[in-house]
Amino acid sequence: MIVEGKAKIFTDGIFYNPRMKFCRDLDMLVFAELKKNTVLDAFSATGVRGIRAMLEAEREVVFNDANPKAVEVIKKNLQLNGLSAEVYCKDATLLMRESSFRHIDIDPYGSPANYIESACNTAEILSVTATDLEALCCKGSAGMRKYSVVVSKTDTPHETGLRILLGFIARTSARFEKKIEPIAAWTKEHYYRVHLRMKRSTSQSLKMFENLGFLVYCQNCLRKSISKFDEIPERICKCGGRNLALGPLWLGDLKDGAFLEKIISRSEGEHKKFLLKIAEEVNSPIAYDIQKICSKLGRSVPPTNDLVEKLRTLGFKASPVHYCGHCIKTDADLEEIEKLLRA
Ligand SMILES: C[S@@+](CC[C@H](N)C(=O)[O-])C[C@H]1O[C@@H](n2cnc3c(N)ncnc32)[C@H](O)[C@@H]1O
Ligand SMILES: [Zn+2]
Repeated sequence: MIVEGKAKIFTDGIFYNPRMKFCRDLDMLVFAELKKNTVLDAFSATGVRGIRAMLEAEREVVFNDANPKAVEVIKKNLQLNGLSAEVYCKDATLLMRESSFRHIDIDPYGSPANYIESACNTAEILSVTATDLEALCCKGSAGMRKYSVVVSKTDTPHETGLRILLGFIARTSARFEKKIEPIAAWTKEHYYRVHLRMKRSTSQSLKMFENLGFLVYCQNCLRKSISKFDEIPERICKCGGRNLALGPLWLGDLKDGAFLEKIISRSEGEHKKFLLKIAEEVNSPIAYDIQKICSKLGRSVPPTNDLVEKLRTLGFKASPVHYCGHCIKTDADLEEIEKLLRA
């Protein structure tokens, strides 16, 4: 028997990844703050996340897994924890289409891409895990097939990957005349996790496209800029190199600052540290890898915080990022950063 948070779990050969405990710990903080609304744990496996949501976040949960053996284990685990709940054994797509759920958690093996459309139908809150990071942040052919995007590896692949995932969800939601509002988005180890609100409004779903666009990236000089959804990206970089236009991706905020503040106040230790980093991040789709820029310039790499402080004293927005110790986000452009690194 495994104990995770307040839940006791038998796995009995059903998928359980202890490395996702940290993610589920953060999820519980998010779920508790969202209160109300029944959650559909659409890919329950052992039921660990849903059971924790019932015990730790006072949420009502409906469980589902397409594997009948998993369903047996979920029922056993509910009993073990003194809980009762509805448990379905259906293809998640069918269940999301035939019943309505206000909060849906999508945590499949690999890509969530095929499930987003069915979830958009009724969800007001969506929580999504993706582990197909190659498709989201570096492998062009997989990105094109799964997410209908142009993607190629940049020096800060996870900034791009998280935004490709959110951009895909946003574009899908627009077909349902909905807009998305990210609550929190993070990456750690092998996965991306996003929590977002969905609101139905024809006009706002159209306006949301102002938050969609392309990351224009030069592999030669590492320059980055943004091109809006309806703009034609510059093909040639100032350095003469050829630009890549990656996306469409989400250009808007990755978080709801007020919401994060609330969950930070209830968190401790490693969780608090991680959430504070997310909260502190500048709202910009442009991140830079300082190591890469320094190696291009033949300079030694300064401590990230020193560079961030320096940029701030010069009046720029700047912050470290949660997914890379030697990367920053800033509204300063590459020339400004290089000037500081040379100095
Ligand atoms: C990554 S695991 C879920 C992990 C679980 N949420 C947790 O936190 O431990 C994916 C689960 O989805 C189930 N599954 C795969 N395809 C499905 C589908 N189309 N509909 C419903 N369940 C599915 C698998 O049987 C597996 O148990
Ligand atoms: Zn260039």
